Amino acid sequence: MSPEFDHYARPWRSRFEPLLRQYLPQPDPQRPALAEAMAYSLGSGGKRIRPMLVYAASAALNRAPDSSLDRVALSVECLHAYSLVHDDLPAMDDDDLRRGHPTCHIAYDEATAILAGDALQALAFELLAGCETLTAAQRVALVCDLARASGASGMVLGQAIDLGAVDQQLTLTELERMHRHKTGALIRASVTMGARASEAGERQLVNLIEYAEAIGLAFQVQDDILDVTADTGTLGKRQGADVSRHKPTYVSLLGLDGARAKSHELLEQSLGALNDFGAGADALRHLARYVVERDH
Ligand code: IPE
Ligand code: IPE
Ligand code: MG
Ligand code: MG
Ligand code: MG
Repeated sequence: MSPEFDHYARPWRSRFEPLLRQYLPQPDPQRPALAEAMAYSLGSGGKRIRPMLVYAASAALNRAPDSSLDRVALSVECLHAYSLVHDDLPAMDDDDLRRGHPTCHIAYDEATAILAGDALQALAFELLAGCETLTAAQRVALVCDLARASGASGMVLGQAIDLGAVDQQLTLTELERMHRHKTGALIRASVTMGARASEAGERQLVNLIEYAEAIGLAFQVQDDILDVTADTGTLGKRQGADVSRHKPTYVSLLGLDGARAKSHELLEQSLGALNDFGAGADALRHLARYVVERDH
């Protein structure tokens, strides 16, 4: 984390980390590996960018975090963790390292990793639907936001495009569409859901969505850049995985300088979308900078 962003993120992280113990299932005596694999996949080492976006979107509306927001934050991180567990499977990216540790299917086995991912996804929706401190209408809206962002018109479509693009030459438009779905959709949902749980007005929501779409794309552009420039130790996942798997990326299409220029252009766009917000949106501003300047 950048020191500027860390100033905002530290109290939110202290709220967030204990939620894992509170809401994750206890291991079943006969089949403990399932709950253990869920906890392992959600465990330490993640940057928690999506939960931080939930809290920061709410702060932009001058709201203090509460238990509803905690559930929203944990919900998007559960969905994200599921997407990573499945992304790393042999049938997908076939990766053995994640957040500096063996991937879930290596630490456990493939079937357990698939089931842990399934259960994390179900838990994400349970956290929203069962949030008694929100109105029924708010809960339905949040469930819809997350379902749309993660399903066949969102993240899962992005993953399908990604897998179909191996060894293919995509145009920039096609690459952007892939990135906006596989990564951008959940980042956008994190902001939208944080704002929705904090009763954002229509105009505020439009601006926050513009911010989120820009940093959602910037986030994946930086992920592509780090695949080339970072080292495995810092990254916590295998450096060069995209290159060795012949995946089209922003770097393969635009070169390193072109990809960096693109991420900075998106940063400016995201900051511009926050012009109507006061100091409450500073965490979102610092988070946007962190997204394009991060080293892992
Ligand atoms: C990695 O996401 C997968 C992408 C969407 C690029 P993060 O970089 O947010 O992963 P963690 O949660 O910090 O490990
Ligand atoms: C993964 O994208 C996006 C999702 C999990 C939805 P990547 O395949 O680029 O993520 P990393 O590089 O493995 O973290
Ligand atoms: Mg992938
Ligand atoms: Mg991957
Ligand atoms: Mg990647």
